[in-house]
Amino acid sequence: MTKPCDMLVFGGTGDLALHKLLPALYHLHREGRLPADMRILALARRNLGADAYRALAERHCRAQVARVDFDPQTWQGFAERLDYLAMDASQSADYGRLAKHLGSRCQRGRIYYLATAPDLFEDIAAYLKTAGLAGDDTRIVLEKPIGHSLESAQAINASIGAVFDESRVFRIDHYLGKETVQNLMALRFANALFEPIWRAGHIDHVQISVCETLGVENRGSYYDRAGAMRDMIQNHLLQLLCLVAMEAPVRFDAESVRNEKVKILEALKPITGLDVKDKTVRGQYSAGKVGGHDVPAYYFEKSVDNDSDTETFVAVQVEIDNWRWSGVPFFLRTGKRLDRKRSEIVIQFKPVPHLLFNGCEANRLLIRLQPEERISLQLMAKVPGKGMRLDPVELDLDLAHAFRQKRRWDAYERLLLDVIEADSTLFMRRDEVEAAWRWVDPIIEGWHRHYQKPRPYPAGSTGPELAHSLLELQGRAWHE
Ligand code: BG6
Repeated sequence: MTKPCDMLVFGGTGDLALHKLLPALYHLHREGRLPADMRILALARRNLGADAYRALAERHCRAQVARVDFDPQTWQGFAERLDYLAMDASQSADYGRLAKHLGSRCQRGRIYYLATAPDLFEDIAAYLKTAGLAGDDTRIVLEKPIGHSLESAQAINASIGAVFDESRVFRIDHYLGKETVQNLMALRFANALFEPIWRAGHIDHVQISVCETLGVENRGSYYDRAGAMRDMIQNHLLQLLCLVAMEAPVRFDAESVRNEKVKILEALKPITGLDVKDKTVRGQYSAGKVGGHDVPAYYFEKSVDNDSDTETFVAVQVEIDNWRWSGVPFFLRTGKRLDRKRSEIVIQFKPVPHLLFNGCEANRLLIRLQPEERISLQLMAKVPGKGMRLDPVELDLDLAHAFRQKRRWDAYERLLLDVIEADSTLFMRRDEVEAAWRWVDPIIEGWHRHYQKPRPYPAGSTGPELAHSLLELQGRAWHE
C-alpha cells in the first residue's frame, strides 16, 4: 500500500513540468494510481494564482494527452490536486513561505521534483533543510544532467547527500522508463536463448543510435552549454549500453541492478590523447530540410551563440575492458536534426563460421525503442522454389500488439509511480553518475585540447560523413 504523500515540483512552469510531468500525473490520476489525497504543488517565480496555474496546466495537458483520454470530469478531479506557489528557489527566505503554505501538510511525506537547471539543486536541498522541510519522510528527484563534469556532479551529489540519504535520492533518466528498455532486461534475463551467445566470440559489435529530427527548440541556452555528449551520451546512451552489457544481477532490486551497471561503467576503456580523434566524431547541423521544412543552422537557433562550436551530434566507438566484451566494439551515436526519429539497439552477430550458401548474412537482433516498440531478429531463410537461394527474414515481436495495449505508457508515468512507491531500481545511483562523467570528461577535454571542431552536417541528413567512416574503415556499417 503506497504511503500518502504530496509532490512539489520546482520549475513548475517550465517545459518539463508542463509537457511531461503534468500529463504523466494526469494519466496516473485517471488510472487511479495516485495516492487518494496526494496534492501536487507547483513552484516557480512567475506570479500566478492557483487558478491561473490550473488553467495553464489544463492548456498543456489538453495539447499533450490524446483526445480520447482527456475528459473534463477527470480533469476536474485532477485539477483539485493542483496548487501553485510563486517563489524564488534561490532565496532562502522563500522557504519559510513555503513551509507556511504547506501548513498542516508539513507533517506528511513529500516528494520534491527538481525540474530546474542543475545549478539550483544544491541551494534547493540546503534551503529545504534549513526550513525543516527535509525530514526522513521526504524524497528528492533530480533531472539529468547532474552537473556538467565529474567535479560539478560530485559537488551536487555531496550537497544533496548532506541533506537526503541515498535511498531518498531519485536521479531520473527517462530512457530507463521506456518499456522496451525494460524489455531488454526481460529478453536477456528471462530467456535462456540469448545469454550463452551474448558475448565476444558470437557478437561482432553493438550499435546504439538515438536519432532525433527535432532541433534544440526553446532550450538553446541550456543546450549550447551542454552539447550532445553531456545531454545524451553521458546519460541515456551509456545507460542503454549498461543494460546491454551488464551481467545478470542476483536479484531484480535497486542495489543488485545498479551494482552491475556500475561495473560496466567502470570497465569502459578511457578515450584519451589521440584516441579522441580516432574514436569520436563531433558534428553540428547546418541549414537543411527536415520533414519537408527548411530549418536554420544550429548557430542561428534561439539563444545559441553565433560562433558556437557546441556539438549536436556525436558518434563514438566504445570498448569494455572485461572478459565478456573483450574486442567487441560498441558504437554509440546521437544527433539532432537528423533525417528521422529513431532510437534503437542493434546486436550484430558474427557470420556463420563456414559458408555453405551464397548471400548468407550474419544474424542481427534489433531492439527498437522509438518510434515503435519492436524487437526483431533477422535470420536467413530459403526463398521458396527451386534452388537454394537465401534471403534475410525478420522474426518480429511487436510489443504493443502482442499485449493488446490500448495506450502506451510514457516513461515519466512509470518513473513517477516508482518514486511514489519509493522503488529506485530504474534510477541512477550516485556512483553511476560519477563513473559516467569520469569516462566522458577526458573526451570533452580532448576535443578542446586538439581543437576538434564539430563537423557540419546538413539538417535532415544522417550526420557527418566521418561518422560513417568510423565504421566503414572496419568493414562495418550503421544500420539504416
Ligand atoms: C532529453 C534531452 O533528455 O531527451 C533532449 O535533454 C532530447 O535533448 C530528449 O531531445 C530525447 O528524449 P526522447 O524520449 O524524445 O527520445
